Formats: sequence, C-alpha cells, structure tokens
Amino acid sequence: MAPKIKSIAVSTGGGDAPGLNAVLRAVVLSALGRGWEVTGIRKGYLGLLDTSQLVPLGRESVRGIAHLGGTIIGTANKGDPFEYPMKMPDGNIATFDRSDEIMANFRRLGLDALIAVGGDGSMRIAHRLTEKGIPIVGVPKTIDNDLEGTVVTFGFDTAVTVASEAIDRLHSTAEAHERVFVVEVMGRYAGWIALHAGISGGADAVLIPEIPFKLETICRKIMQREARGRHFSLVVVAEGAKPEGGVLTTRGDKPVGGEVRLGGIGEQLAAQIAVETGKETRTVVLGHLQRGGEPTARDRLIALRFGAAAVRMVAEQTFSVMVALDPPTVRAVPLGDATRRMKSVPLDCDTILTAREMGLCLGDET
Ligand code: F6P
Repeated sequence: MAPKIKSIAVSTGGGDAPGLNAVLRAVVLSALGRGWEVTGIRKGYLGLLDTSQLVPLGRESVRGIAHLGGTIIGTANKGDPFEYPMKMPDGNIATFDRSDEIMANFRRLGLDALIAVGGDGSMRIAHRLTEKGIPIVGVPKTIDNDLEGTVVTFGFDTAVTVASEAIDRLHSTAEAHERVFVVEVMGRYAGWIALHAGISGGADAVLIPEIPFKLETICRKIMQREARGRHFSLVVVAEGAKPEGGVLTTRGDKPVGGEVRLGGIGEQLAAQIAVETGKETRTVVLGHLQRGGEPTARDRLIALRFGAAAVRMVAEQTFSVMVALDPPTVRAVPLGDATRRMKSVPLDCDTILTAREMGLCLGDET
C-alpha cells in the first residue's frame, strides 16, 4: 500500500494568470483540512534547486487572497530543470540537466507529492518529472486557453473581459476621430482571446494564429465600412497572428531556457493599413494588462475548484495527471495526453461560424 500523505508542496510556474492565488488558497485549506503540511516552492520548479526558496504555507498565508492577481509564491517562465542555463567561464551559456537534484531535494525534504500549477511548458516539465518518480498533480493555467484536455483554463475569462472592455472603450474614440484602431492582444499560438474578445467587443476584423491573414482582405473590409458611412474600424490581432506566407513578429532572439518574445504585429499591421486605406490608424497593445489584477468570479471559481480537486487526487494517490474542467465536473487527465498538442481554435467551431455569419473579417476571405 502507498504510504499515507503527510506533506505536500505546491508551485506556480510560467507567466502569471489571474486565479493563481485562488488555487493556492484551495490547495492549502483542503490539505490542512486533511491534516497535511504544505510547502510553497517559490519561482516555479527552480525553487526546488535552491531550498532557501521554500516557504511553509499555513491558514494565515492564504487568508484573503482568492481575489488577488499574481501569486504569493512568485513564478518563473525561464529555467527548465532539464535544460537549466548556466554561464560558463568563457561567458557562453550552456544548459544542464538538473532534474536529479530536484528529485534528491524532493526526497530529502520528505515531500509526498507536488501540485504543479502552470501552462504548457510547466505541464511538460511535470510530465518528465513524474517519469523520474516525483508524484505530481498538474493544475492548468494560462490566459491563452491553449491547453489540451481541459475545456478552459482559469485566467482566460479575465483576459477576455479586460480585452473586450478595452475594445469597447476604443470604439468611442475610433468613431469620434474616424480612425482605425488595431488592438494587439495576447495569444502566442492560439487565438482564443482575440476571437472571444473581438466578437464580444464588436470588432470588425479578428486575426488569429490559426488563420493566416491577407492585408488586402482587411483593408477591403475597412473600405466597405467607409462606403457605408462607418468611418472607423476596429481590428483585433493576436500577438501570434501572421500574414499568409509570413512569419511571427518577435522582439529579440530566443533567450536560453526561455521563449522568444512575441509582439509588434499590431504596429506593423497598423502602418500597412494606414498606407493602403489612407485612414489614420493607431495601435494599442494590451500586453500584460490582460494577465494582472483581480480574476473574474468565473476564473476564481474554476481556480478554487482546481485547487481542491488537485488535493483530492493527491489524497487518492492519483498522480501523473492534470486536473481538467469537464462540466459539470473536474476530472483527471493523464499529463501525457494533456501535453501532446496545443489546443488551437477549431476552424469549424461555432464561435468562428458566429464571427463569419455576423460579417466579421477573419482576414482570409478572398
Ligand atoms: O502564455 C501566456 C502569455 O501571456 C503569452 O500570451 C505571451 O506571449 C507570454 O505569456 C508573454 O510572456 P512574458 O510575460 O514572459 O513576456
């Protein structure tokens, strides 16, 4: 029989998402209720390489935090322990596999399980660590909503709410000045935020990574509106959208142990639209505003349910799984399945059909 659980750890990794603190609160309260101890690992998995980053989490630590953005134990989106970057004496950066040290520290600390909250990168690392023998339950988070296996991730609803409110606000200025606004939103590989916020906010064009766009199609839409006396337009573009035959717009090179920074497509597109249509065109990049601040009640509730479900799975000793929303319930999906591929927007989904049927331009019509 597996040994009784007495002590668990929890980490938050990857870019922050509204709802992380709600997960921590649910994990801590559910675990304390079972008589377990909880240790917070600061800065994602990296905290297990440097034990000064460990912090005991009690009832007081999680008091009044469910509605707060960020994460009380910090996060990191660099430093995969399997490819840990280190500066060499010659100044070059080399990567090392430090997963055995993580394993050793985990054992030395007498931990029985780890609840790892994170996005696709964190879930992939969790999967590799479980293969080495660390009992892990993953909790999916990302505002991008691009994780397979769960109907939705927490953080997404807040990001969509922020983005659609921004589009609403820009509408009045666009109309008053007869301008085109290009609103760049997050969404590295999937256009969920752009699509949902664009439709809710009443945008005229929505450009997502799943549908390469043509400049002339967008400009035609803007000029058709002009002809109908609508002298303003709103174009929502996901940071990972690209023109047909084109490439991703990035800022700088890929850092060692991190991901290349996307961004700039909004600015680029606005300049091209201005030239092609002769319309004054401005860009607004929402960036990290979509990730900060209070989670919506929906995100809070998903996060709290995920935290409590993760503890339930640890209690049942169900490991190497990720909690997933499968309404009306939360279930466990194998980490291997959850990390196999990205969840992109299906091109035949009803949200895409809604956009097309309402006359929104998705950049691909000829
Ligand atoms: O994955 C979430 C996300 O917000 C992406 O949409 C974005 O490309 C990335 O994180 C930005 O990360 P950082 O905070 O490191 O710039």
